[in-house]
Amino acid sequence: MKLNNQTPPPVTPILLRYFTVSLFLFLPLLLLLFTLKTTPSTTIITTTTTITTNPAGIRIRPGYTTYDSYIKKQLNKTLNPKLRHLWKTRDWDRKIQVFTTFFSKLKHHSLLTNSSKSLCIGARVGQEVEALRRVGVADSIGIDLVPCPPLVIHGDFHRQPFPDDTFLFEFSNVFDHALYPAKFVGEIERTLKPGGVCVLHVALSTKSDKYSANDLLGVEPLVKLFKGSDLVRVQKVDGFGLDTEVIFRKKEKISLE
Ligand SMILES: *[C@@H]1O[C@H](CO)[C@@H](O)[C@H](O)[C@H]1NC(C)=O
Ligand SMILES: *[C@@H]1O[C@H](CO)[C@@H](O)[C@H](O)[C@H]1NC(C)=O
Repeated sequence: MKLNNQTPPPVTPILLRYFTVSLFLFLPLLLLLFTLKTTPSTTIITTTTTITTNPAGIRIRPGYTTYDSYIKKQLNKTLNPKLRHLWKTRDWDRKIQVFTTFFSKLKHHSLLTNSSKSLCIGARVGQEVEALRRVGVADSIGIDLVPCPPLVIHGDFHRQPFPDDTFLFEFSNVFDHALYPAKFVGEIERTLKPGGVCVLHVALSTKSDKYSANDLLGVEPLVKLFKGSDLVRVQKVDGFGLDTEVIFRKKEKISLE
């Protein structure tokens, strides 16, 4: 009887106490697990973003399992002694002449001036750099996986060896060799000064070579990639198998004041 009269403690406060205590005990463990879990998965997300943020209209060629195997294949072309010899002899004057005409036109349209600090991306042996210097753009340099002094220094276009806001002009005709087109463009937009100009010669209807890492099906995907720039103009050109010239200008920094 006595027992029956004694009201047992209510169930809910006990459960609540249990819950609170266990929460306190487990909280540090949960937090630890959470930090351990999020760090690697964020990295994975970043990597996949790079690969998947390619807009429709850019096809990455299959077969590159690692970045190393991609670089090796690119080097295979760049280091080919026969090709390098041709680039420096048979092609040398002809290419400089064509590039000189391109750059003179850009100067005429005030997209390039003698004082534009300039970069040529994927410049091989540097005919475009030589052409820039001949039209009066003295402060110009090229980058490629294999340096070719004094015109071309070593540099990977997926990670340009320059600080932000360095150049007023960048030129490239190797967009098709980019395994990560978004990075290729991101690096251009990073190293261009606000108001700086980027000129790309790309292949839209012509077939690019077996060393290409992507196929570009139109101008629209490029416009999507150049998020921080305005499209200046698009026109047909005849540039060594590349048929379209696309020009962008990096947006000026927006002042919030
Ligand atoms: C490029 O690849 C070919 C065939 O796979 C090979 O014979 C050649 O030695 C390579 N060249 C270079 C410079 O790596
Ligand atoms: C730019 O450089 C070229 C070649 O050196 C020269 O002929 C031209 O006068 C220069 N233009 C200006 C505006 O200084």
